Amino acid sequence: MKSRSKILVLDDDPNIVEVIVTRLESMDFNVHGFTDPSTALNALRHDSYCVLVTDQKMPEMDGMVVLREAKKIDPDVEVIILTAYGSIEGAVRAIKEGAYDYISKPFEPLELVTKIEKAMEKRELKQRVRFLEQEVGDSIEYRIYAESPAMKRTLAIARQVSDSDSTVLIQGESGTGKELIARMIHYESRRKRRKFVVMDCGATPPSLIESELFGYVRGAFTGAIKDKRGIIEEADMGTLFLDEIGNISPEMQTRLLRVLESGEFRRVGELKPKQVDIRVIAATNADLEAKVEDGSFRSDLYYRLKVISIKLPSLRERKEDIPGLVQIFLSEFSRKTGKKIIGIDKRAMNILFSHQWPGNVRELKNIIESAVVLCKGSTIGPDEILLSGIGEKKEENLNTLESQEKTLVIQALKKANWVQKDAAALLGISRRVINYKIKKYNIRPEKIN
Ligand SMILES: Nc1ncnc2c1ncn2[C@@H]1O[C@H](COP(=O)(O)OP(=O)(O)OP(=O)(O)O)[C@@H](O)[C@H]1O
Ligand SMILES: [Mg+2]
Repeated sequence: MKSRSKILVLDDDPNIVEVIVTRLESMDFNVHGFTDPSTALNALRHDSYCVLVTDQKMPEMDGMVVLREAKKIDPDVEVIILTAYGSIEGAVRAIKEGAYDYISKPFEPLELVTKIEKAMEKRELKQRVRFLEQEVGDSIEYRIYAESPAMKRTLAIARQVSDSDSTVLIQGESGTGKELIARMIHYESRRKRRKFVVMDCGATPPSLIESELFGYVRGAFTGAIKDKRGIIEEADMGTLFLDEIGNISPEMQTRLLRVLESGEFRRVGELKPKQVDIRVIAATNADLEAKVEDGSFRSDLYYRLKVISIKLPSLRERKEDIPGLVQIFLSEFSRKTGKKIIGIDKRAMNILFSHQWPGNVRELKNIIESAVVLCKGSTIGPDEILLSGIGEKKEENLNTLESQEKTLVIQALKKANWVQKDAAALLGISRRVINYKIKKYNIRPEKIN
C-alpha cells in the first residue's frame, strides 16, 4: 500500500524538499519532490497521487492556489499545507478550502509522516464509501472503479457527455468495461428514468437483427402472428446500446444510419414510419476504422456514431487499478459465497501484476471468482490464483462441469433459434443468467454452425 500510493512534495526551498523526500523514502514511501508549482501540478495531471504536501508561501504560486488547482485536477487528492510558524489564519483558510490538514514550520518529520498516513487512510475510506454508496444507491446499474489516471480521464469524459444527446462510440478490448461505461452515461443523463435497452449485434444472428431492432406487424413474414415492438421503440425516450456494432450487415448499417439521421423507423411490414427520441451508444472491440478502410463498414455511419469517441484502456495499460478491483471483486464474491475472505497475499498479487490480461477486467473478475471458491482460508494465495487458470487459454480452462454447461446453453440457443429469452425459458433460467453465460463462454452464433 505504502509503496504503491504516491506522495507529491512541493516547496520552493530545495533543502526542505530534500529533507522531506529523504525521510519519507527511508520509510518506504513512494515520493516525488518538486520546487516549481507548475511542474508539480503537471505531474498531478499525468499521474495519480494520494497526498500532496505543499508549502504555503512560494514566490511563483501561492500554496492556496496550488491547493485549489490540485483539487480541480483530482478531487480525491489529500492536501497538507506547510504554513509559516504562527500563521494560524493561513491554516484555517487552507482547511476551509479543502486541505486535509496543516503543519507549521519548523516541524518534526515524524509529525508529518503521521499526518500523511492519516490522510492516506482517509482517502482510502472515502473511495471505499463512494463505491459502497453507488452500490446501495439508485445507481446500482453500474459501479465503476477507477484509480489510474487513464481510467479517471475516461470517466471524466463519459460524465461530461452524459447529459447531451450526442451519439457515443465506445471502443476497447473485450472485457474493458464498455457496457459499464454505457450504463453510466445513461444513468447520469436526464434519460435515467427511462430505459437502457441493449441490442447485442454480436450474439444475434444477422437474420434476426432486423426484426429485433425494428419490430414487425402481424403477417409481415411467416411466424409473425402478432405485432411486435422492436428494441428501437422500447428505447424511446431512453438510451439504445448497440453492442458489437462492427458485426451488422451492410443493409442494416444503411437502415440504422437512416434512424440516426431522421429519428424515424418503420416496423417490418409497415409502411408508415414512426418517430422516436433515442440516444444511441455503440460499442465495439473491432477496429472499425480498418473496417471502414476495407469497405465492410459504411464510413458515413462510422462518423455519425463517433460524434463522441471514448477509448477504454486495456487493463495491462492501467495496472494501478488491479488492487482496487481485486478488493471489490473479493467482497462481491465473499458475500455471494458466504465466505470471509479478507485479502490476497503479496505473492498472489505479484502474479496478478505480471499477467498480461488479454480478457481485461472480466478475466480478472473470473479469476477472483474461482479463487474465492477455491480458497480455504481467509486470504487468497498464489495457489488459488494459479489453480484458477490464470494465463491459460479460455477453452482449456473450462472444467468438465463448465464445458457441459456451455454445451447445454448452445443446444438451447439453437433450439430457440438464438432468441435468448426463449433459450432461457427452455433451461429454466432467467434472461440475465443466460446472457451472463453467453458472455462467460463467449458463445457467438457465427462461431457455431
Ligand atoms: N472499472 C470497473 N469497475 C468495476 N467493475 C468493472 C470495471 N470494468 C469492468 N468491470 C466488470 O467487468 C466485467 C466486464 O465489463 P463489461 O461487460 O462492461 O465489458 P465489455 O467491454 O462490454 O466486454 P465485452 O467486449 O466482452 O462485451 C463486468 O462484470 C463489469 O462489471
Ligand atoms: Mg460488452
